Amino acid sequence: MNEQPINQFSLWPEMASNFAWPVDLLYIFLIVVSVIFTVGIAAALLYFGIKYRRKSDDDVPAEVHGNNTLEIVWSVIPLLLTMIMFFWGAHLYFKMSQVPSDAMEILVTGKQWMWKLQHPNGKREINNLHLPLGQPIRCTMTSEDVIHSFFIPAFRVKQDVLPGRYTQLWFTPTKEGVYHLFCAEYCGTEHSRMGGSVTVMSPSEYEIWLEGGTGASLSPVEAGAQLFTSLGCVTCHDGRANAQGPQLAGVFGTLQPLTSGEKILADENYVRESILNPKAKVVEGFAAVMPIYKGMVTDSQITSLIAYLKSIGGEQDAGGGENQKQAPKDDSAKAEDLLQDESLRADTTQGIMQ
Ligand code: CUA
Repeated sequence: MNEQPINQFSLWPEMASNFAWPVDLLYIFLIVVSVIFTVGIAAALLYFGIKYRRKSDDDVPAEVHGNNTLEIVWSVIPLLLTMIMFFWGAHLYFKMSQVPSDAMEILVTGKQWMWKLQHPNGKREINNLHLPLGQPIRCTMTSEDVIHSFFIPAFRVKQDVLPGRYTQLWFTPTKEGVYHLFCAEYCGTEHSRMGGSVTVMSPSEYEIWLEGGTGASLSPVEAGAQLFTSLGCVTCHDGRANAQGPQLAGVFGTLQPLTSGEKILADENYVRESILNPKAKVVEGFAAVMPIYKGMVTDSQITSLIAYLKSIGGEQDAGGGENQKQAPKDDSAKAEDLLQDESLRADTTQGIMQ
């Protein structure tokens, strides 16, 4: 594998994701515009300072009462330039916000002072992330304590990681190698040491790496399916016609009508809120009878439950790429099987991120 020296000082980080070149190009444009204006303004200042200097004590220049052409030119050109920056930047921002449906999900948890990472098959890592080349990756991220920020300069991606909430970022690694991973938000004494590396490997090497290592751990989907049963969610959310709670298959990633008349996207943050504080946004046609689970489930248990709901959800993002180990798209049947599997009910804490 192409190992990049990780402690080398360089002005421009390695380019190793699909966003590297688009982000750099915009950045180069900003630098070029800034340099042209800085040099131009400084040169004009110097030139006019000399040309129009006071040559004698009674040297008073004639008054100038405006120049329409000049004023239009110096308004329109900067307007055009800033509009180019705005639309270019917005376009790139939207592209970076829209996660492709075949992205492979990595669960990221920030904690003073480490990064905990989990792959779709359940395999965990700390401060080291192994990824397959060419596979779109979605990082679903949360924090156990304070605000951190997940930053991989070589991929040109950075996103705050917040306690009590999910944020996400995505990218496709385009070059094999080892790259820096940072925390980019001051989070306490060892903030500067909260980092590690990202290793991009060929898909086949990644497969081998994924299967290696010690101990079978449950995938987030499996752990979530267990919790769904052991916490009793299944008693109300069982899909019967007169059930106390809405049935949850096919719900994740879709718009849900609320008793308030509004509609809400059933995403990570809505599911999280509905577990911790079910009365906040009740789905139309149901009474606010669900018990409050605040204090009864850990953040990582919520993350597993969300992974499970995604696997039986409406959004087609649980399937996907070659390396996808998570339950495939049409796998609500498999998840049902998991629920029925008595052996899985035994130990619900196994495989939960601590
Ligand atoms: Cu975590 Cu800085």
